[in-house]
Amino acid sequence: MAESQPALQSLVAEFDDVDSVSAAARAVRDAGFQHFDVYSPFPIHGIERSMGLRATRLPWIVLGMGLTGTTLALFFQWWANAHDYPFKISAKPLFGIPANIPITFEFTVLLAAFGAFFGMLVLNRLPEHHNELFDNPRFRRATDDGFFLAVEARDARFDTRRTRELLQSFSKHPVVECHASTESRAFPIWVRAALAGAGALALLPFAGIVNARFRDATSPAFHLIKDMDSQPRYRAQAANPYFADGRAQRPDVAGAVAFDHFLTDPKTLTGRDGENFCGTIPLPVSDQTMLRGQQRFAVYCTPCHGQAGYGDGLVAQRAANLQEPNWVPPASLHDPVVRARAVGQIFDTIRNGVRTMPAYGRQIGIEDSWAIVAYVRALQRSQNATVEDVPPAERASLGTR
Ligand code: HEC
Repeated sequence: MAESQPALQSLVAEFDDVDSVSAAARAVRDAGFQHFDVYSPFPIHGIERSMGLRATRLPWIVLGMGLTGTTLALFFQWWANAHDYPFKISAKPLFGIPANIPITFEFTVLLAAFGAFFGMLVLNRLPEHHNELFDNPRFRRATDDGFFLAVEARDARFDTRRTRELLQSFSKHPVVECHASTESRAFPIWVRAALAGAGALALLPFAGIVNARFRDATSPAFHLIKDMDSQPRYRAQAANPYFADGRAQRPDVAGAVAFDHFLTDPKTLTGRDGENFCGTIPLPVSDQTMLRGQQRFAVYCTPCHGQAGYGDGLVAQRAANLQEPNWVPPASLHDPVVRARAVGQIFDTIRNGVRTMPAYGRQIGIEDSWAIVAYVRALQRSQNATVEDVPPAERASLGTR
């Protein structure tokens, strides 16, 4: 062996059949070697015993990973559904084993499979893209009809001369030396580039998550199922062949009148007569109007002002119970100040609100607002009536009661 040759890695013996390689393996095992391997074109039954291999630790890795999966899945489901954001459904228990089995099962299997796959790779020190044995052209027969046994030089019992003699005593072929490969052990540059590229690509989903987490969007980025967000429709000036004149935007039906179209009188619209509030209701008031006013009052005013207008509606009662610090109680409509208000001012209060009372002009139409004003007046009169308010024809019967 020349001085310049790279370090000796192993001694390799070649055999022609299973029996001789097995016999050699037993001899090497009995000689106390630990670091040696047998290469054959097919699995040899019992070779692990001939080589003195101990059982693989892989099952323990799989068991550990599986149990980790079980624990993690159960814990996370409990944490998410019973602890961090309790799932309250029809008084069912927050956590129960049966309901959580599917995910637990899947995760157990997943981690166990990862353990088996990656554990195998790690235990076998894979991936290994080059091995010195491949430098020997005869070694290729290990995939065809050759059986090989290689004893590694790092074994404590290794001695070049005696190990060679031991191997040679079993083999008809010359025992060859295997030297450290001159080829670089590093991965080729294109493999490294591909790995770096794949690593960078793998970060993209996380970038997407960060983006979605911290950016406000009014519409979904990927709108696969459109629901009712985009529907067939015509734009205002577009053509529509369905109609004879081809116009998508249809003109008003002949004789149609727009909402509040007939109300043009400023007094009716604002409740003001010039600078001042008007003192009379500018629209005709009938029994119909009073009933409508009563009904609208019940809808829009009773929550705060109460059925009889004393400012004791349910909202007011609740606010009083809660002792809301900023709550301004609704005015009693029978307060002398409110009673003295002109109808135009009450109309204005309904339309535009006053101080802490919100405006109802958007919800209630002009005519309905006046109907409510009429009803408020009737309500005020009902709570402050005198004998003079009773029609003369009825007064006589009052006295007899
Ligand atoms: C959300 C509760 C709430 C509703 C609903 C409500 N009000 Fe009021 N209203 C108030 C409050 C509060 C005041 C007292 C405002 C103040 O003094 O700051 C008030 C005051 C008034 C006053 C006296 C205003 C003045 O001149 O001092 C009138 C009249 C009145 N409301 C009528 C109505 C009518 C009519 C309706 C139904 C259309 C109505 N309110 C609906 C809360 C309400």
